[in-house]
Amino acid sequence: MAQEKTKRGGFGGKIAAILAAAGSAIGLGNIWRFPYITSENGGGAFILIYLGCILFLGLPLLIAEFSVGHNSKCNPIDAFSKIRRGWGWLGALGLVSVFLIMGYYFVISGWTLNYTIASATNSIGGNFGQFFTDFTTATWKPLIFTYLFIIANHFIIIGGVQGGIEKASKIMMPLLFVILVILAVYSLWLPEGREALANVFTPDFSKVTGKTFLDAMGQAFFTLSVGMGAMLIYGSYFKDGTKLAGTAISVVSLDTVVALTAAIIIFSAGVENESGMQLAFVAMPKVFAAMPAGNIWAALFFLLLGLAALSSTISMHEAVTSYFVEKRGMSRNKGAWIVTIGALMLSTVASLSLGDWSDIKLLGMNFFALLDNFTAIVMLPLLGILTSVFVGWLWKKEDMKAELTAEGGIDKATYPVIRFLLRYVCPVLVSIVFIFGIIDFVQNL
Ligand code: PFF
Repeated sequence: MAQEKTKRGGFGGKIAAILAAAGSAIGLGNIWRFPYITSENGGGAFILIYLGCILFLGLPLLIAEFSVGHNSKCNPIDAFSKIRRGWGWLGALGLVSVFLIMGYYFVISGWTLNYTIASATNSIGGNFGQFFTDFTTATWKPLIFTYLFIIANHFIIIGGVQGGIEKASKIMMPLLFVILVILAVYSLWLPEGREALANVFTPDFSKVTGKTFLDAMGQAFFTLSVGMGAMLIYGSYFKDGTKLAGTAISVVSLDTVVALTAAIIIFSAGVENESGMQLAFVAMPKVFAAMPAGNIWAALFFLLLGLAALSSTISMHEAVTSYFVEKRGMSRNKGAWIVTIGALMLSTVASLSLGDWSDIKLLGMNFFALLDNFTAIVMLPLLGILTSVFVGWLWKKEDMKAELTAEGGIDKATYPVIRFLLRYVCPVLVSIVFIFGIIDFVQNL
């Protein structure tokens, strides 16, 4: 065990910790999922509920997850069982969820690759909706791009925590911020952009239902990557002295700014006629097409999406890989291959379920939609409830306090607030939203 500990990788410093964790948080969830879920749920009203979920549920959970990882310094399964015997299954549940997410997430990541190339080479053509449908329902093309993306991911993972993940985050995240700012300035400069912005951020409470709250909460957990072991494993790699709460606040702020900026960029493209998961892929090329050198702007946008996806998928992959390495005693290379092969298989089914296998449905959804909905609206709330109960009620009071106030960097005055949020607010609120949201969802099936 002692020997294993010395072999463990870790991030070089505070900035690396923030960039890697922000890399996990900022992803397709912000740029692809947030805008379309927002437009489906009435814009401004949804955003308000979402921000509430981020602040009162997501942030404390993220601090909790960093603390569990940092305190135990091991993979998600051992981390929980080290703090409380018999609770390793909670880590396992997170890993299963993150693996299911990888199944469809890699497919969309692959699309970003095709769209970057097709935009740069000006080969999307004039009918954006048709291009999207033809491409995503094809058999081989989306699969090839998905596989390429998974392999890129694999090589970062086998590079190790510092040589792979940290290095990649340090290159990708600044690049992502630069592209985002350029695109945001560009879209706000357009009159359509400012008009769309005003429309979208005007709350429409008539569309708010129980499901809206569930969608907002699921999105908040998804975008912060909480409950699934990814933030836990990153927390376990934080150097001693890295302030956990400060890091969590930086991550949450960056993530929220990126989500709102992405929504502005996308809504400036006009969302009236587009909805659902093709929003980013159809609306963006359309708006850029009207601009001088539009294909270059579009290529930049899809590059942004791809970079964001890559920095998120490495955290998912790492969480599961760490299990094979630390718990099953495999080499990093072998552990990573197992996860990669699993991801290749699952994403193949997810990709085909949009085309050749689209007739196979459960609860009216194909496999791809099922993976997305099941994880975001069932698994993530459940994991949120369990994680907050674990940290708030089952972790020895003094130990939790010591971790949060010392390494966590939370002062004595703020600590009771975080503890209260984790003990009462998170479990109760998440349970209520979960139950009512599910009832609403089932009634509308
Ligand atoms: N937070 C990522 C996003 O918003 O795209 C998605 C994600 C990353 C989910 C890592 C889960 C995870 F473990």
